[in-house]
Amino acid sequence: MYDNLDLGLINKVAIVAGGGSANEEIGNGRAAAILLAEAGCKVLVVDKNEKSANQTVDIIREKNGVAMSVGGDLTIAGECKKVVNLSIKTWGRLDILDNNIGIDSRLSVVKESEEYWDRVMDINLKPIFLMSKYAIPEMINSGQGGSIINISSISATRPKGYTVYSASKGAVISLTKAMAVDHGKNGIRVNCVLPGPVYTPMVYSKGMSEELRSIRKRASLLEIEGNAWDIGKAVVYLSSNWSKYITGQNLVVDGGCSYSSRPRG
Ligand SMILES: NC(=O)c1ccc[n+]([C@@H]2O[C@H](COP(=O)([O-])OP(=O)(O)OC[C@H]3O[C@@H](n4cnc5c(N)ncnc54)[C@H](O)[C@@H]3O)[C@@H](O)[C@H]2O)c1
Repeated sequence: MYDNLDLGLINKVAIVAGGGSANEEIGNGRAAAILLAEAGCKVLVVDKNEKSANQTVDIIREKNGVAMSVGGDLTIAGECKKVVNLSIKTWGRLDILDNNIGIDSRLSVVKESEEYWDRVMDINLKPIFLMSKYAIPEMINSGQGGSIINISSISATRPKGYTVYSASKGAVISLTKAMAVDHGKNGIRVNCVLPGPVYTPMVYSKGMSEELRSIRKRASLLEIEGNAWDIGKAVVYLSSNWSKYITGQNLVVDGGCSYSSRPRG
């Protein structure tokens, strides 16, 4: 009579792209990697900053989880292919891909340089395209489909400026929906997580005043601060059996910021 409440993640294989962090603390990718491992996945943590990927793996192993790390610039096709091959060579399959890589940009089109436009588009979009290109055939080969989670942002749907970033994150949503259409027939679900202004090392490692932090908090309808664990939990949900009837969707994780007229800093 009741549905099976098993998350279905035991022994699944997950790649977290950008699973390091901007510093020693917990960013969105690191949180997702740790939580996926706690839920039973074997996790391949990839980051341009290999030391940071190693730190994520150390945390997982300390908790008796199964993980390995590899360094790689995932804007390069050959490196993406190598990462996917490593997961197949080591664990024989690939079930979950969390595309977490992203950098921000804060200027208007008038002030932003053409070079930085190219860099933001390259880093925020290309790894999703390339990692998915090599991951999807392996998910199909497994005969059990898979789940791809792309990290966008509420800046895509409710920009606060940050123009090039917002454009790139809007494209992440369109890419997600089109991929969901293409690969639903293969049992592959593709969804987006749209974080609000969560307190992660990416945003505070270069310094954030208490005043700005509290403006960001008050931007939420709940007047609370989100953190990387909130995003990681959304990734686990979208990876799991619990979301088996969900594809092509945006899961907004922002404490209601999208519905608030208060500034988010
Ligand atoms: N923090 C926020 O408030 C917030 C809000 C909305 C969306 N997001 C999104 O969440 C994601 C993660 O954010 P975070 O705050 O945890 O940032 P983070 O900087 O801690 O994590 C991103 C990781 O990606 C890695 N990376 C960058 N370029 C790479 C490349 N070419 N190849 C491989 N790895 C690369 C970085 O080394 C870093 O470890 C991003 O996509 C970001 O846009 C964050």
